[in-house]
Amino acid sequence: MPFKTTGVKSWLIISAFVAIVSSCAVPANTTDLSQNRGTMADKAMVVSAHPEASRIGLEIMRKGGNAFDATVATQFALAVVYPVAGNIGGGGFTVYRTSNGETGTLDYRETAPAAAFATMYQDSAANVIAGLSTNGHLAVGIPGTVDGMVKLHQKLGVLPWAELVQPAIDLARNGVVLTQKEAEGLNNARQAFQEINNHTPYLTQKQNWQAGDTIFHVELALTLERIRDEGREGFYAGKTADLLVQEMQRGNGIITKEDLANYSSVWRKPLEGNYRGYKVISMAPPSSGGIALLQLLTMVEPHNLSKYKWQSAEAVQLITEAERRVYADRATYLGDPDFVTVPVQELLDKAYLEERLSTFSMEKATPSSEVKAGNLTYIESEQTTHFSIIDPSGNAVSTTTTLNGNYGSKVVVKGAGFILNNEMDDFSVKLGVPNMFGLVGGEANAIAPGKRMLSSMTPTILEKDGKLFMVVGTPGGSTIITSVFQAILNVVEHNMTMQQAVAAPRFHHQWLPDVIQYEPDAISPTIRAILESKGYKLEQRKPYGRVDAILVLPNGKLEAGADPRGDDAAAGF
Ligand code: GLY
Repeated sequence: MPFKTTGVKSWLIISAFVAIVSSCAVPANTTDLSQNRGTMADKAMVVSAHPEASRIGLEIMRKGGNAFDATVATQFALAVVYPVAGNIGGGGFTVYRTSNGETGTLDYRETAPAAAFATMYQDSAANVIAGLSTNGHLAVGIPGTVDGMVKLHQKLGVLPWAELVQPAIDLARNGVVLTQKEAEGLNNARQAFQEINNHTPYLTQKQNWQAGDTIFHVELALTLERIRDEGREGFYAGKTADLLVQEMQRGNGIITKEDLANYSSVWRKPLEGNYRGYKVISMAPPSSGGIALLQLLTMVEPHNLSKYKWQSAEAVQLITEAERRVYADRATYLGDPDFVTVPVQELLDKAYLEERLSTFSMEKATPSSEVKAGNLTYIESEQTTHFSIIDPSGNAVSTTTTLNGNYGSKVVVKGAGFILNNEMDDFSVKLGVPNMFGLVGGEANAIAPGKRMLSSMTPTILEKDGKLFMVVGTPGGSTIITSVFQAILNVVEHNMTMQQAVAAPRFHHQWLPDVIQYEPDAISPTIRAILESKGYKLEQRKPYGRVDAILVLPNGKLEAGADPRGDDAAAGF
């Protein structure tokens, strides 16, 4: 199957569909959307945030690589072609299901440096110092991506490591043609790059990047060559480590060579649950994503959502009330399981979740002030990236990685050409006080040396009748969980194709603020009026998330859902 991108056309189709269906008073939930499919393939598929990254992942599988090899190649390619979030200076999570049904996850989340401490972003009067945890060298957690890719390859890959890193090196050397969105992203970040770095990052070499410009990542290519030749040591030791630590010293950062040498990603047991006959496999803490997704699905399951029309008042109410309750206790109990006890079984207990939703009535909204809250709400920056892969043998890999904010901390390592994350801001910077993204601190997520900061990333895989059914995930900070939740519901409950499910406009509620945030066209004016009459507050917001997913059809063919909100693209054969 030829390479194909999915663009605004499907978004327009979905928007038109939404407008028509939403404006009907009581339409039946029987619309057959099965013809509007995304990119189709017989055996293998990659869906990612960038066409070049998807192409590279697919080429690896054409050469005989498996989905794990393709994951490594796609991740390194994204670090070159998608610097806003693709990375070697960040971290992430991979959830997988092998062709024989074994499941697992790898946690390569960043960790706090040894010199980090709970009050490091506060002044002597215990006030949070604005920007310290989000911009510049002190915001950087110890990167985990390279260690994660090495471990994934060692355990599950089949092609030689060098062959997986080389395509990214070629891209970096030969140059990458910028899309409109990438040019705008770099122009918007230009001032911050200049202010934060005390050298001139190559990403600012042009005053005004345009779509069609070619950007050459010369120093990044050299770093990738060291990673290609030396594996883990090519990043956590030797020249790259020297350059990273020198960069830290230039900007009063605290990461040391020992921090880098000590970093280690962790294999974790996946979180698994069931929803209406589907097995859901997702990420355990230090992500809050898997727990929250399973809580949401368990809460709505008894209500048989399919009896309500998509985005009807009843469906929006049910989803909103479940989201309100899940986000209310979501971050209270969650943190790095290597440091705090996370009550996973209790949070996923059916009786507990049933009781949580027992105060919900279709008659009126439950004010968030009446929902028993933990001590915090938790909102992350929305820039992260997700990709989904299935290989010809049926191995499936769901990977979400992040720098946290757009271009992370904006620190570009001089001489090494890569951007460092600002993941420290995902910790509680002060207990009980919101940081600049609205994050309010809780003890479980307090900063401590070597600890992983809480995440919302929700790479997920679904099985049906013991067979692979869906690979799904998205960026979007705190909206990640509700976007993955709605993408699953769109397919399972509303009979959408994968492409329709990822393109369909979304809405989001996270307990606080007590408001339903909706994308343009997500909820019709008629339904909004009904919801407002029941006490819901609604607020339109700009599109968010980039859900990239793959659906296995009953005939075994693969359908991609590539989110039209970005430059996301599918490639399959
Ligand atoms: N930094 C976004 C997340 O980990 O959820």
